[in-house]
Amino acid sequence: MRIGVLTAGGDCPGLNAVIRSVVHRALTGHGDEVIGFEDGFKGLLDGHYRPLDLNAVSGILARGGTILGSARLERNRLREAAENCGELQRRYGIDVLIPIGGEGTLTASRMLADAGMPVVGVPKTIDNDISATDRTFGFDTAVTVATEAIDRLKTTAESHQRVMVVEVMGRHAGWIALESGMAGGAHGICLPERPFQVEDLVKMVEERFSRGKKFAVICVAEGAHPAEGSMDYGKGEIDQYGHERFQGIGNRLASELEHRLGKEAKPVILGHVQRGGVPTAYDRVLATRFGWHAVEAAHRGDFGKMTSLRGTDVVMVPLADAVTRLKTVPTERMYEAESVF
Ligand code: F6P
Repeated sequence: MRIGVLTAGGDCPGLNAVIRSVVHRALTGHGDEVIGFEDGFKGLLDGHYRPLDLNAVSGILARGGTILGSARLERNRLREAAENCGELQRRYGIDVLIPIGGEGTLTASRMLADAGMPVVGVPKTIDNDISATDRTFGFDTAVTVATEAIDRLKTTAESHQRVMVVEVMGRHAGWIALESGMAGGAHGICLPERPFQVEDLVKMVEERFSRGKKFAVICVAEGAHPAEGSMDYGKGEIDQYGHERFQGIGNRLASELEHRLGKEAKPVILGHVQRGGVPTAYDRVLATRFGWHAVEAAHRGDFGKMTSLRGTDVVMVPLADAVTRLKTVPTERMYEAESVF
């Protein structure tokens, strides 16, 4: 079998671990050939690819990013890929394509699968917002980075009697904010799923200061919005990939709190720090398992599906199940987090 693999969308710790696992399982388990397309679907469309052998994937398990490069792709180019998928498959002589990516990539993969390309998807995203899998690799690493940041910010906040507003990633789903906020013991957590009241945060900080705790850390997801009438904060424009250009909730909230509390409030935007660097052991293991199962699925002809973690098992689920809705934080999970601050 000849397998094509690509990584698309925003990068994520663990992508290289999947590539390595696919190559090892395919070559040593089945005697397959693997080629890697560069920069996501662009490489597939523009003919940029290279063979991947055991040496090509040696030493990449713990490396962040992706050795194949990644890119987001405009919708019209994806349509081009779907319309020409038969020709593309013949051009590269591939029997299956394994795209590794988030919601956009899996939607594109579904388009290709519907158009007749044999596809086995592997879900990734630090946001953990893909339905039909309990976890995506990259999320654990992002939560670990954000938790460490909160731990560090607490000590400096306490020294200077400051409020720290830590902005973490999460456009539509607040999983990183929820779990890093819980693990780091943040005093407030704001999620995209539920508009927040600035007044509640003001009260929380004042209550802490009134009982002698002279600092506070608030963890806010980049996609969080204040409740209507609570604070001025506009909606951003939509870019060419369909993403809202955020107005910077971390900066805005810190300045609003500083104004209302009359205390120093500093914003800290973690940004892409959460996506770079070495994956945690958990993410390396999950990514390796996903790669192994993707190759096995390809050999069974289990196309139009993606790998998924269900409990502790890796199973195959239809791509359609993964892309019909985003997995957001349920209200009960918010209640659990609220009880500790
Ligand atoms: O989807 C993953 C993600 O990291 C989001 O949390 C974030 O909003 C987005 O990607 C950032 O994308 P880019 O790297 O294109 O700025």
